[in-house]
Amino acid sequence: EKKISIAIDGPAAAGKSTVAKIVAEQLGYIYIDTGAMYRALTYKAINHKLNLEEEENLINMLNETVIELFPGEQGQLIFLDSKDVTKEIRSSEVTNSVSIVSKHKLVREEMVRRQQMFAVNGGVVMDGRDIGTHVIPTAEVKVFLLASVDERAFRRHKENIEKGYESDLEQLKQEIAARDKLDSEREVAPLKKADDAIEIDTTSLSIYNVVDKIMELTREKI
Ligand code: C5P
Repeated sequence: EKKISIAIDGPAAAGKSTVAKIVAEQLGYIYIDTGAMYRALTYKAINHKLNLEEEENLINMLNETVIELFPGEQGQLIFLDSKDVTKEIRSSEVTNSVSIVSKHKLVREEMVRRQQMFAVNGGVVMDGRDIGTHVIPTAEVKVFLLASVDERAFRRHKENIEKGYESDLEQLKQEIAARDKLDSEREVAPLKKADDAIEIDTTSLSIYNVVDKIMELTREKI
């Protein structure tokens, strides 16, 4: 059986990581959450009080930063310079700043280089914004997940409440819309469906409906 690459792109909170994790598990593939890499750098830059608009300091910092992804029991663990930051990188401060960090060309080039190393041997499910367009343009399966802003905000709201976090639905809607706008309108590798990606609108689908569709597309290729 051939080990292929699966690229899953789409806007914020469209369920990419949930679905990607399950698909990877079913296939015995590795799962790479590329958003977590941008989040880890953003977290470190905030702690060091860098100006996030300035590319040079960010790229210098990134070049001295080790970001590692490990499979954990409750999903992927993210280590930043040997420290577990899995929880910290999901804070609203990081979430609302990450799109500023990720717009810089040199930052993206270095992140893409690292991501491509994870994918050299195939057998990966990678999720993000530019996987099908830039990171693995040769991926055998490319999926673009969509859902309305209201639906995505509602899902995130439910998830927050289940985890015992404070959550404001209206604020989530605004934050998700703002992040989509920055990610879609940036100059370098904006969020965009690859021409050969299959679009799946998940608004009225369950997680397992989406997983099944991706597994079907995958079986045609292996
Ligand atoms: O996927 P997640 O929402 O965790 O991504 C956080 C942010 O990282 C995105 O809003 C985007 O700015 C950036 N990102 C990116 N390219 C990727 C993955 C994430 O620019 N491949």
